[in-house]
Order: sequence, then C-alpha cells, then structure tokens
Amino acid sequence: MMEQMIERAAQDLVNSKYAIALTGAGISTESGIPDFRGPSGVWTKDPEAERRAYRSYEIFMEDPRVWWMERLTSPSPLGDLESRSPNSGHYALAELEELGILKCIITQNVDGLHEKAGMHNILEYHGSVLKLRCTSCISRFRRDEFDLEKLLREDKLPPQCPRCGGIVKTDGVAFGEPIPNDVARQSLEEAWKCDLMLICGTSAVVFPFASLPRIARQRTVEQERKNNTGRYGVEAVPAVTIIEVNAEPTPLTEEGISDYLIQGKTGEILPRMVEHVKKFML
Ligand code: APR
Repeated sequence: MMEQMIERAAQDLVNSKYAIALTGAGISTESGIPDFRGPSGVWTKDPEAERRAYRSYEIFMEDPRVWWMERLTSPSPLGDLESRSPNSGHYALAELEELGILKCIITQNVDGLHEKAGMHNILEYHGSVLKLRCTSCISRFRRDEFDLEKLLREDKLPPQCPRCGGIVKTDGVAFGEPIPNDVARQSLEEAWKCDLMLICGTSAVVFPFASLPRIARQRTVEQERKNNTGRYGVEAVPAVTIIEVNAEPTPLTEEGISDYLIQGKTGEILPRMVEHVKKFML
C-alpha cells in the first residue's frame, strides 16, 4: 500500500509540468534538529518557550538592543543548527530539482539544509539563521558580515544596515512579524504557477505559510469531459495535485485540501519516490 502510494506520487511528479515542494521542520528531524509540534517537539516539550517566542517580536519592536543582548547570550531552542547536515530527504528533493522535475522549494525551516543539500531555487519563508536582514530596506547579509560579539562587548547593539542605516535583525521571522515582501510575493507566485505541490514534514498550522496549499487548491482549469449523458462538456477541474508526506495527518488531510497523504518519514519515503521517478523517466 505504502509503496503503491509512493509510486503514484512518482508518476504524478513525472506527469507534472510545474512541481514545487513546501517543507517544514519534519524534514530536518532526521538531521537531529527537533521539530516544534511533533511528539518530541520544542513547543510540545516546553510550552513556556513557545509563549516566550510569541513575545519576541514585540520585545524587538520595543527595544532592539535588549532583544539582541538576549539573542547573543542565550542558547537557541533548536540547538546549534550550523553544525547540522542534510539527510536523505533533503538530498532526494535536490535530486528532483536536478532531474528538472522540482522547480522550487518554499521552506519554513531556518536551518539552511536544503541549500547544503545542493538545492538552488529556495524560498526561505521564515528566513535563515545563517543570515541577518535590515528591517527597513530588507537587505540581507551573511551573519559573519557583522562582528556581533564586538558590538555586544562595546554595547553598540542593534547592528545598523550599512546600506540604509536601518536596524538589522536576524533573518528568522518571529511570530507576529510580517513575512518579508519579496519572499511573500514570490511564494504566492509559485503557489499560483504550480500544478503539483509536494508538502513534506509540516503540521500545516502556521499562517500565512499554511494558506499556500489552500490558495493552490482554489485554482481550477477547464477540461473537456464526457458527462453522464455521453456528451462532451467543459468542466472546471482542480489545477493542482497536492501530496503530503508527513508522520501524521494534518488539517490539510482532514479538510481534503491535499489529494493524499503518504504517512511516514520523509528521509525514508522521498528517496524511494526519486527511485520510481527515475524508473518512469527511462
Ligand atoms: N518525517 C515526516 N514527518 C515528520 C518527521 C519526519 N522525519 N518528523 C516530524 N514530522 C512531522 C511531525 O509529526 C509534524 O506533523 O512534521 C511535522 C512538523 O510540524 P511542526 O513541528 O509544527 O513544524 P512546522 O510545520 O515546520 O512549524 C511551522 O512554526 O514554530 C514555528 O517558525 C516555526 O517554521 C516553524 C513553524
């Protein structure tokens, strides 16, 4: 049954003209990074930490200097992400891009593992821990372009944008913080363009990211079909095939937004899907 569904997904991918992938923390758990709402997720284990996270952006807006001091002196709940490596799930998606099947990934993950796995066309919807961003001109910088420890020692926080003088923040998007315009617009365009959406390792409960599959689901195309009287008519049919690969069902499954769920680990399922894709492309 599972293998048949993986084969079906591979066939759908090969038949697609413009497939994209949406990913969440679940695809990185096999790299040793905890997710948020899974059975051993960061928020599941420490609801207080989640409450603090909800206040983070407010604190930044009130006093970015205090926010930065806290940021530079307390450990991240996700641990040291820069030391982590991609797993077979990340590599499988990069291979689908190389095969010309996957056109883009929109990820909620800030860990940079899709890029490390060799993926090119990536939209980091919630930003990246490896980058900083100006809150005025949205310029992004590599973290090492600023000597943050020196700014902390000399009490010269928050960092200032060398281009516009605006206040620089980590690129990670906090709860309540607007998604940067450029990424929000490009992601919407991808959701409008795609004819297949492969959604991997997300509980799909955080908005506005979780609205992307719903936007894609609204799209229909006209298709000539034989109706029950044997006559041909034009019918509006769903324009997008939506496939979930996740350890558990999500609201997308329950609301029938996705066409089907392949329930299991991304690191096990995605490589098998790629094997079938390669077989079908022969
Ligand atoms: N394979 C497949 N699914 C997995 C795996 C795995 N190896 N490991 C965990 N999962 C599933 C979990 O069961 C859960 O349904 O992945 C999902 C991860 O969901 P969340 O922890 O809610 O992560 P995500 O959807 O990415 O969260 C969205 O919330 O906290 C914020 O900014 C944070 O970007 C994050 C956003």
